[in-house]
Amino acid sequence: MVIPSSISGCLDDAEVMCTHDARELEAITNPAVQAVIYIPPALPAWVPELASAVQRSAFRIPRTVLPKASRNGIDDWLEQNLPKAIVTTGVRASLKADILQNVDRLHALSHASQFMLRIFTDEPTTECGFHVDTVPPGAPAYGFLRVYNGAGTEYVDPANVTSIADFHRYLSRRERLVRESKVARNDGRKADYDRLQREIGLLDGERAFLIQRDEIKIAPAGSIVAFKHIDIRYLWEDHSKALAWIHCSPMTGESRLVVNITIPEPAAHIAPRARGGIPH
Ligand SMILES: [Fe+2]
Repeated sequence: MVIPSSISGCLDDAEVMCTHDARELEAITNPAVQAVIYIPPALPAWVPELASAVQRSAFRIPRTVLPKASRNGIDDWLEQNLPKAIVTTGVRASLKADILQNVDRLHALSHASQFMLRIFTDEPTTECGFHVDTVPPGAPAYGFLRVYNGAGTEYVDPANVTSIADFHRYLSRRERLVRESKVARNDGRKADYDRLQREIGLLDGERAFLIQRDEIKIAPAGSIVAFKHIDIRYLWEDHSKALAWIHCSPMTGESRLVVNITIPEPAAHIAPRARGGIPH
């Protein structure tokens, strides 16, 4: 496949920015910025109340994808589906407004009018190791992630990655092992399943795509991460490190509320920066 020069160039000086200023989330449109992690100086009071309800599995949302929805569509869905009478109406309203604020941020950056929302509460699993997220062909290649509680999201500094080719070797082998492991479990082949799980653990422990294998960074729960997603056409290409944030959800611990917002199609008018700035 021929990769456009804009993505095959030498943007290996990719940067992950950490900030206490939400306005800096808009830097995600900078080609050299792989991710912007906004860590609020203090979490608003509604977040711990929500976190407690998620942690004790009282506030539950099944894994849901709205593949293409307007802001109003997302607003309606949240109104109808966010659990009621589990947290106070104020906490529920704050969560809804918070999710919509990230939709607005994405709109301000891209001028997109349709969004993909992924939302769920669930306990961590070992299914996904380090990976990158994708967007459909031609869609703006960034999105927003907020995990409201639990363990943080692990990620690696781009300068610590040996090469994208090495990362792809890890990723493809891990995906194969997970597939085989599921088949072994469904077939009731316990010994094979256990062996495959051990192999997955070894692979994750080796982290052969890293220069410093123990140098793992954390985006803490409560932070908002704007991060580069890879256009799915280029997922397995030897692209620049700037094009995708290599990250890993926790594999153990309490149930978490996870919300991810992306754009499902090429936006009509892509603005490199928000015209009027993004809400903060
Ligand atoms: Fe991800």
